Amino acid sequence: MHTAEGQRCGLFRVDEISLRREAYISGHYLADNMLLQDAVELWVVGLNASPEKIESAFQLLSDDEQRRAGQFRFPVHRNRFVMSRANLRRILAGYLDIEPAALAFAYSEFGKPSLAAPQTDIRFNASRSHDRALIACTREREIGVDTEKIREDLDVDQLAQRFFSLEENNRLRAVPADMRHQAFLHFWTCKEAILKAAGMGLSLDPVKIDVSVALENPAAVLAAAREQFIVNGWTLIPLRTTAVEGHLSAVVTKGIELNVSVRPWAG
Ligand SMILES: CC(C)(COP(=O)(O)OP(=O)(O)OC[C@H]1O[C@@H](n2cnc3c(N)ncnc32)[C@H](O)[C@@H]1OP(=O)(O)O)[C@@H](O)C(=O)NCCC(=O)NCCS
Repeated sequence: MHTAEGQRCGLFRVDEISLRREAYISGHYLADNMLLQDAVELWVVGLNASPEKIESAFQLLSDDEQRRAGQFRFPVHRNRFVMSRANLRRILAGYLDIEPAALAFAYSEFGKPSLAAPQTDIRFNASRSHDRALIACTREREIGVDTEKIREDLDVDQLAQRFFSLEENNRLRAVPADMRHQAFLHFWTCKEAILKAAGMGLSLDPVKIDVSVALENPAAVLAAAREQFIVNGWTLIPLRTTAVEGHLSAVVTKGIELNVSVRPWAG
């Protein structure tokens, strides 16, 4: 895998792992709009809202975002997209001290959004599942985030065969049946966050990304809320349901000495 700067990052095989200091999980709202150099700020956004709030959110979107909203088949999905995008704008605009509608996004060849205007070193990534979005913000460092609602209706064996490495499949089969869905989503969110940090979407084969060590001890990992794994300068942070209620989530970003916080977004 090569980053935009052409540097090699060793995320394919996660086997040189050290357990790092705990992420700081806070329930507080942002006191000011500072985004510090070592900060990884994760915002949990509720996506269900009144028709009035959805309409005012819609008005913040650009023409192309409004067109995208119009392409959803079901209103519930359209409205969640609108709320997610509008609150992404509000969060970024808060850091930059400008109007949310004044932001302009650019998209990489694989669809990863970034800020085109105003000029800034702020980086972000977003994920949504069901009625929650998780929005991650940093300075300078690339970042990827994934959140998935815990659900029992997935055919985890079939999905794992398609997307997981041999070792991940082996680990998953060893997890007791009543914990397998969570273990699956634990792997899935870690892998997806890596893909999203790299920004290459599914052009990077998920089978070649092995996070099986994240389930070294299934009981311990599934119980632990805030472990971090460091590989060649990238940090993988799996987040339990304490971060997004009812969801498993993961964040991957460049750098090791990070100050990670998770907060509900009140906007
Ligand atoms: C598009 C993709 C990046 C994530 O899609 P997803 O899991 O369906 O959706 P999420 O809600 O987590 O993320 C969507 C957000 O990711 C961001 N995004 C889009 N393309 C991206 C890319 N190439 N890299 C990083 N982020 C991207 C956008 O902010 C998008 O939000 P938007 O819908 O408001 O534009 C891509 O990885 C994908 O298609 N995944 C399919 C799932 C899969 O097969 N995963 C295998 C994992 S083992």
